[in-house]
Parts: sequence; C-alpha cells; structure tokens
Amino acid sequence: MSELPTIGHIGNLRRIDVSEPLERAPYIARGKHILLGQRKFRGQTDALVLLGKCIEQTRVSNKYDANVWLDIRTPHVIYICGKRGSGKSYDLGILSEGLILGSNSKITTKDKAITTVVFDTQSQFWALADAPKDTLTEDLEQLDQLREWALPTIGLSGARLFKPAGEQSDLPTVEDFVLDPAELDADDWCGLFGLERYSPQGQCIRTLLQKVRVDGYEIEEASGGQLRRVRVPATPRYAIPDLVRCLKKDLEMIDQSQKQTRDAVLWKLESLQDSNLFQPGGLNIREVLRPGQISVFLLRNLDNSTKSLVVSVFAKKIFNLMGDYHTKRKVSRRFGSELPDEYRGLPDGVWVLIDEAHLVCPADAHTAAKESLVEYVKRGRDAGLSLVLATQQPSAVDSRVVSQIDLLIVHRLVVDGDISAALARVPANFPKEVSFGSARISERYALVRALDTGEAWVADAETSRALLVAMRPRVSAHGGDEPVVI
Ligand SMILES: Nc1ncnc2c1ncn2[C@@H]1O[C@H](COP(=O)(O)OP(=O)(O)O)[C@@H](O)[C@H]1O
Ligand SMILES: [Mg+2]
Repeated sequence: MSELPTIGHIGNLRRIDVSEPLERAPYIARGKHILLGQRKFRGQTDALVLLGKCIEQTRVSNKYDANVWLDIRTPHVIYICGKRGSGKSYDLGILSEGLILGSNSKITTKDKAITTVVFDTQSQFWALADAPKDTLTEDLEQLDQLREWALPTIGLSGARLFKPAGEQSDLPTVEDFVLDPAELDADDWCGLFGLERYSPQGQCIRTLLQKVRVDGYEIEEASGGQLRRVRVPATPRYAIPDLVRCLKKDLEMIDQSQKQTRDAVLWKLESLQDSNLFQPGGLNIREVLRPGQISVFLLRNLDNSTKSLVVSVFAKKIFNLMGDYHTKRKVSRRFGSELPDEYRGLPDGVWVLIDEAHLVCPADAHTAAKESLVEYVKRGRDAGLSLVLATQQPSAVDSRVVSQIDLLIVHRLVVDGDISAALARVPANFPKEVSFGSARISERYALVRALDTGEAWVADAETSRALLVAMRPRVSAHGGDEPVVI
C-alpha cells in the first residue's frame, strides 16, 4: 500500500457542521484521508488522485481538513455542475493533473500517466503545460494557495493541443486537426445538420451515404451528342464533392426523392466545401491514444453542432478501438496467446473530459455526440473508459448519459430548476441538516446555494451521503481566469 503524502493544513477555510456521519467511505485516520470512488480494493491507496479537503465536521468524528481522494483504478462517469464561475473548469484541470502527473507531485499516488482527452469547448486549457509563475499577477493567488496546501507547481509538459485546421492561433505549440468526411456516419451528418434521423432530409443522407460508400449509383452523361448511362462505383474514402455529385446526378434519387429535400441537403453540404476542417486525412486516433498523453481539443470557435461532431467522431474512434483492444486482451491473457500487432502500445484506460457538456450533448436537440456518448458510457466499463462532463445547466444534458454517473460534484447553483436537476442525479443522499456558522440549513436547495467558489458537494455512489469538499488549488497554470479589465 502506498504511503499517502502529507498535504498542508487549511486553517482559513470554512468549517461546516453536518448532522449525520459519513459512512461507507474508507477512511485512513493517520494523516486523515477519505477515499472516494472505490468500488473494488477498498482501502487501497495506490491509484488515488487528490480532489481537495473535507470542510465539514460531524459530532461523532471530525474529518475537517481530511484529504479527499478519488480512486481511479476502475472507470468512472463523473458529472460536475455549478453556475458560471463556481469552479467546474477548474475541476477538470484538477482531474487532468491528477491523471497525468506522478506521485512526486503529491496530488496522486500512482506513477503511471493515464491517457486523457479534453474537449475544451471554451479553449481554456491551453495553459496546462505551464506551471504558474510568480511574475504574473494572475497566478499569485494560486501560488499562495499552493504554499498553504504544501503542493508544488508543475506544468503538464507533454500536453498536446489541437485546433481546427485553418484557425488562427497565437499559441506557440498547437497542432491542426481535420475531420475526414469519410469517417462520418449518417448519424454524424444528421447531427451536424441538426436533422432528425427519420426526417426526409435524414433519410436522404442515409440513402446518399449508402450509394456513395457502399453500392455505387448510375448517372446520365452526354457523349457524342447522346445521353448515356454511366455507373459510378462505390467510394468508401469519399469526400464532400462525391456526395454532392451523387445528390445532383444519381438517377434513382432524382426519380424517387423530392427535389426540395435534395436541395436542402445539397445546400448544407455545399456550405462545408470550403471549410478547412472537413478534409480527407483525419487525425489518426493513435495520436490521441498514446499511453500517458493528454490531448486538448480547443473548440471554442466552432459552432455547437460542429463541436458536437468533433466529440462524436473521436468518442466513437476511442470506444471502437479500446473496446476491441480489451476484448482481445482478455482472450490473449486467458489463453496465453499473442496480442495482435494492431493493439500493441495502446493505453489500458482512457479518460475523456468535456467542458460545457450541454453544448455537445443537449437533452433537447439532435446532435452528433449524443448517441456516441451514450454508447461510450455503456461500453465504458469493459473498455477502460471514463467520462467527465461539466455543465452549468444540469437539466440540459441528455439523461441517458447522466443516468450512468457514479460520482457527482455539485458546485454552487442558484436557479431552482438547475438545483432540482442536479439533485435528481445525486447517486447518494444529502445530509439532513447543515450549519454554516450560526445558520442552520435543512432545505436541500439552500445547501447548494450556500456554497462558495471551489466548494462542492461530492456525492459518491459508494458512500452513505454527499460530502462537503473544498477543491484543491491547481498545480499547473489555469488559462480560464476572467481578465481583469480595469
Ligand atoms: N478549487 C479552486 N481553488 C481556487 N480557485 C478556484 C477554485 N475553483 C475555481 N476557482 C476560481 O474561480 C474561477 C472560476 O472557476 P471556473 O472553474 O473557471 O468556473 P466555471 O464553473 O465557470 O467553469 C477560476 O478562474 C479560479 O480563479
Ligand atoms: Mg468553465
């Protein structure tokens, strides 16, 4: 069992009295450590990442200032919600650091770096590779907090940043990525265009892809003053002009589908023809699935449906490859057979983090990422896949994904509808009564409204009730600070 590191003490954080004890969370009294997310190997300490400090105490036991760790040995589905500025993106940074760094950082007990992919919808994670600097006023408060917590400053130096091809960037090291149209399936196209699967345009896309990719089709061409039928063979590695051509010329579609429908799809496809993002030669998923690498996709400047498409394409590639890999791995371990070459060098686990998840996986609109993420979480356990979603609108994320969560981190929320949506997802109970100083609160909505920035209720399906935590300061630079304007 790993010796847990000594973290500093937090003298000046709030101290909150909670009525009932926290049960079923493994607790190590020496050095005060609470372990969350342990489904297996309870009490073991060698695959932990530090979330923060416990800021509550109960009459029976005083766990104030205890270090709160998350066990990452098994996959998790984590949902982070809170109003704007409450600390959600900061948490994604906390998790990223914990996944990538080793035990010398004190914020994790493992040494292996865990492959992580961040879909950064607001482009805030570009600074991860850097340590905070005392020459920057925006970093000074963070440096003070790190001193108090006795934590080092470390940049995630291997972080790889990816931006959509064609986009301008001032960052010194950032790579381009493109989406290969041939890698998109009918659901992706429908999601990108905001179309229902079974709408006339949705059906038109389905037929179109079948013809271009699989069956081939017939067109009429003028030759020697005569019209002649020509067969266009299937093009599995198709590009957008191939789709446009089929839509305009395929005799069967012209005959059997409405011109209005075809024109609407045509117009949508043609609007993408000049885009730098949609080009043959999409990013090889192996570039992202390198063991121990963190990849950050900077998506801020894409519209929401394209953001969603990017997530969909990569989520699918990840669960397909990782799912196959784990199936083959199980067989080869049991029968002592060789693992096929194409699965060598893959990581055992992958974490996907999505900020502002309601933009890519909304409850009320058809987007590309929805079905892909549902599949991702369904297959996740067996394929070593974890998912973390952060959102300021807890009711606005598709419920099929959210129903799979095993850890919920609730920061401050103020709107009743948002609070009730978050509470409906709590995989554990809330305490019945809490005292913030002299104010006693027993109403659950008020418990969530009373939180400060960086404070959260952390509810773990394995423990008896949600726990009050002050999330720790980041050890790497946080690029998401609001600018000081005067
Ligand atoms: N655990 C924390 N410790 C210290 N400061 C924090 C913490 N969480 C958030 N903050 C501060 O609050 C700001 C807003 O947090 P952020 O995570 O960007 O909010 P949002 O919920 O909108 O994603 C951060 O820039 C940071 O200064
Ligand atoms: Mg944010």
